[in-house]
Amino acid sequence: MAISLVNEERIQIENKVSNIEQLKIDLIAPRENMDNQSNGQHATIQESQKSQRKTNRKKPDGIATNDLIFSAYVGNNSDLFPLVMSLYVPPGSIVADVTYGKGVFWRKIPKGTYQLYATDLKTGVDCRNLPYENNSIDCVVFDPPYMHTPGGTAHNGHQNYEEYYKNNKGYKSDKKYHEAVLDLYFSGAKEAYRVLKNKGILIIKCQDEVCANKQRLTHVEIIVELEKMGYLTEDLFVLVRNGKPGVSRIIKQRHARKNHSYFLVFRKKETRK
Ligand SMILES: C[S@@+](CC[C@H](N)C(=O)[O-])C[C@H]1O[C@@H](n2cnc3c(N)ncnc32)[C@H](O)[C@@H]1O
Repeated sequence: MAISLVNEERIQIENKVSNIEQLKIDLIAPRENMDNQSNGQHATIQESQKSQRKTNRKKPDGIATNDLIFSAYVGNNSDLFPLVMSLYVPPGSIVADVTYGKGVFWRKIPKGTYQLYATDLKTGVDCRNLPYENNSIDCVVFDPPYMHTPGGTAHNGHQNYEEYYKNNKGYKSDKKYHEAVLDLYFSGAKEAYRVLKNKGILIIKCQDEVCANKQRLTHVEIIVELEKMGYLTEDLFVLVRNGKPGVSRIIKQRHARKNHSYFLVFRKKETRK
């Protein structure tokens, strides 16, 4: 008797469990179906949006080419300078070349492409005191001497700072050697900042040097200082000289002989009024 009662209770419990399972199935299945259905709908909408987007999508502009201006060239200033200008300075712009020298940079640029103001210390205009209004120039080109070797002959005829300043005592800096070179770059860049329009371009030519056996990466020093002044660095071009430059005397070579220089391109950051 007791055994059959236990059996009955077990059967009742099993039925209850099976009812609950069925209930679960009844409750969950339609939801899953609904989800599947709505997922299906969602997927169809996504598909149609995708294909619509495909048909609406414009073909990307531009062409594939390697006919470009590159960051490194073998050649001369007069080969590379026109490329730098064509990338950053639109024709018709007002350009002040404040260290014009012999005008080598301009040899391959057709006359009249830019409104060129050409000055140099030799013609009586110091790049640290330019005869232009504030914010009036689109581009300043600046190529001062690369080296300072007072009394020395090591760099004769090679962008020698001392050579340019021997007859211009009034313009001499109290700094010497590499520090004098940097001083001229920094003070010239500061004056350029004054005369440049907002977003105007400053193109600097420079070369690193080993001075008193110390490696001086002039281009890095210039970039660091000019960014503090409010310039953005836009570009850096490397110019590798043709041929093999020598030295006048050597016992043991300690550093790589430099056969490259740089054009650095800066933009004056927009100043708020
Ligand atoms: C490397 S040369 C420039 C060469 C020039 N880019 C060219 O294409 O012929 C350096 C020039 O900077 C000039 N210079 C030196 N100190 C100067 C200064 N404080 N202000 C203006 N020009 C200066 C020199 O007279 C010299 O002509």
